[in-house]
Amino acid sequence: MSIHSRLRPAVLLRHAIRNQRRMKHSTAYVTTPIYYVNAVPHIGHLYSSVIADTLKRYYALKGADAYLCTGTDEHGLKIQQAAAKNNASPLDFCDRVSESFRQLCDAADISYTTFIRTTEPRHAKAVAALWTELEKNGYIYKGKHEGWYAVSDEAFYASNQVKEAIDEKTSEKVMVAIESGQRVEWTEEENYKFKLSAFQEPLLKWINDNPTAIVPGNRRNEVTSWIKAGLSDLSVSRLRSRLDWGIPVPSDPGHTIYVWLDALANYLTANGYPWPNKENSVSDSQVANVWPADVHVVGKDIVRFHAIYWPAFLMAAQLPLPKQILAHAHWTMGKQKMSKSRGNVADPFEVMDTYGVDPVRYYLVRDGGFADDGDYSEDNIIKRYKDLAGQLGNLLNRSTAPALNPNAIAPAMPQNVGARDQTLHAKLAALPDTYDQSFEAREFGKGLAAVFDMLAEANKHFQDNKPWDLAKDPAQKERLDQVLYYAIESCRVAGILLQPVLPSKMDTLLTRLGVPKGKRSLSDAQPSREKQVERPLGESRETVLFPRLKK
Ligand code: MSP
Repeated sequence: MSIHSRLRPAVLLRHAIRNQRRMKHSTAYVTTPIYYVNAVPHIGHLYSSVIADTLKRYYALKGADAYLCTGTDEHGLKIQQAAAKNNASPLDFCDRVSESFRQLCDAADISYTTFIRTTEPRHAKAVAALWTELEKNGYIYKGKHEGWYAVSDEAFYASNQVKEAIDEKTSEKVMVAIESGQRVEWTEEENYKFKLSAFQEPLLKWINDNPTAIVPGNRRNEVTSWIKAGLSDLSVSRLRSRLDWGIPVPSDPGHTIYVWLDALANYLTANGYPWPNKENSVSDSQVANVWPADVHVVGKDIVRFHAIYWPAFLMAAQLPLPKQILAHAHWTMGKQKMSKSRGNVADPFEVMDTYGVDPVRYYLVRDGGFADDGDYSEDNIIKRYKDLAGQLGNLLNRSTAPALNPNAIAPAMPQNVGARDQTLHAKLAALPDTYDQSFEAREFGKGLAAVFDMLAEANKHFQDNKPWDLAKDPAQKERLDQVLYYAIESCRVAGILLQPVLPSKMDTLLTRLGVPKGKRSLSDAQPSREKQVERPLGESRETVLFPRLKK
């Protein structure tokens, strides 16, 4: 006899309610990298944010209380130099550029719960607390540092990580980092060091025990081989006389905390760190009690900092490690790295003005690279726009238009599945799981392709069944309703599943289909779970979801 069958119904009910409550309170915490304010936002930045926002909205679709943290990375030499170049004080300069990143988030419908600026007092408090914890636990010591530093990457490199190169502009012989191609300079100073070398084995064990801690696999392998090649201790401060645009070392204000230690701590700041006590973490921030992060979304260029330094800092501070580092690849243009000097950088504001916010989000998530780079092109945005208009917008219009649907209803689910409906019925029934599995595996393009594969079948079904002929014959009313049911149901299911990527357009679509706000979660996308009854459609049937492009 199972333990449950021995329990009284009242006890079972209590269990069920408790479980339900537990499920309701599942949380998800997703982050974007925080953006350097040395230059204005470009399409690559938007990509990081859209992927993170898609994930956050996907968790919400599954019923979690989902949080998203984003912001700007404002300290360090790189920013200090950029401000000086612009004849501005560092803070004025940061205020201005940070605002443009916030505007980008707002324009792109990024549903952040916290926007962090590393120049905020709450962040300085979190960084100082983290530093003190690392020091208290014996992982920080004073030492002499000699080595190469790349201001562009804000990273130290060992002698075997740099090479000689010729500067394109000046034809001078210079030293560059092999990994990033950025110019490095020799630095020698006394600073504080973090015992990164102590974490070689613990990091390898973490990666080994958690196969999805670093995704995709090529990045995971790369990180593993970096660690196996050996980890040296890391300089985590600069003399204040060399760098004063940063947070001072709490116990020795003559030093400034290394900008990456400062920046990474933003993920804790958003969560109200330092917590008064671990059991009862109280926070004045909106992202309360959700440590560790579920997913840190990062670009491939900053994997080392997130998959080696960050977990090592957290282990040293005895804090739980993030569940996943999700690294995306980059966007190139004309197969070349996007760069201002080459003039091949896409302005995200301009692109969204031309094609609309949701279609651009859709393009980025559908075609963006994870393991490998994706090549950005407006022709491909247009192609994706046409899919949206042709497959989804069109089916919605045709199935809800007064000519075929004069009573403005979504017909009830047919009693039996007829032979002509079987293929579409099966595709619809299988889709939510396929989508969910793809999103869980972070194969967003695959999940979206499955939605459009179903829509292609739905359009074919509609076309093959000629509802315009059925509408002419009152004896065919039942069949017409069945055909309309399948078309509208396909739009409803696609609409629910596409919400994380096209939030505003899918809100319009679902409202038009008369789907109440409380019936738009992933579990509502399963046709078999809920018997569909006839439902009135919503208002404003005339709006065109994806109007013809002017271009
Ligand atoms: N400030 C650091 C991150 C600190 S996180 C604790 C930083 N900032 S960044 O502004 O340079 O880059 C932010 C993100 O934009 C990175 O994830 C980076 O990979 C991404 N992209 C920058 N150029 C890109 C492309 N061309 N394509 C796709 N993403 C790109 O690094």
